[in-house]
Amino acid sequence: MVRVLFVCLGNICRSPTAEGAFRKLVVEHGLESMIEVDSAGTHGYHINEPPDSRAVQAAAYRDIDLTTIRGRQAGAEDFDRFDYILAMDADNVRHLSKVAPPEMVHKVSLFMEYSSNYAEREVPDPYWGGASGFNRVLDMIEDAATGLLRDIRSRHSV
Ligand code: 4NP
Repeated sequence: MVRVLFVCLGNICRSPTAEGAFRKLVVEHGLESMIEVDSAGTHGYHINEPPDSRAVQAAAYRDIDLTTIRGRQAGAEDFDRFDYILAMDADNVRHLSKVAPPEMVHKVSLFMEYSSNYAEREVPDPYWGGASGFNRVLDMIEDAATGLLRDIRSRHSV
């Protein structure tokens, strides 16, 4: 089993979108028994809340279901469980690197490192903007998700 955790600040916009988009890809490839997917926030502002309704709506338009996701905060224990801890931006990386047991820091990276069609290495926070921000976030995330699945398949026998 390969375990992937997506992390953003609030766990209501970017990381649930990444969780839903990557899970859809995993299911399309019949790999749901091999790859586990989850998301969390660096902060606890939205614990147990569903994702932002704008994120849910933008994702639903692409047949990505975010409705069962609930907010939670990332903690040190996540570093034992997950193989890939994928941050949406550099602030998230800094925060996670402080929380991580030192020997586990190598598990943290920027999710956009797996993108091939975008030069940007951070997924912009759409929280304070309009609907178009959520669609752009989805475009970026779907591209990086494809690269991530390719990486997992090349490194692990799945
Ligand atoms: P996210 O977006 O990190 O992509 O979930 C945000 C959600 C909530 C807040 C900030 C960013 N907030 O300040 O509550």
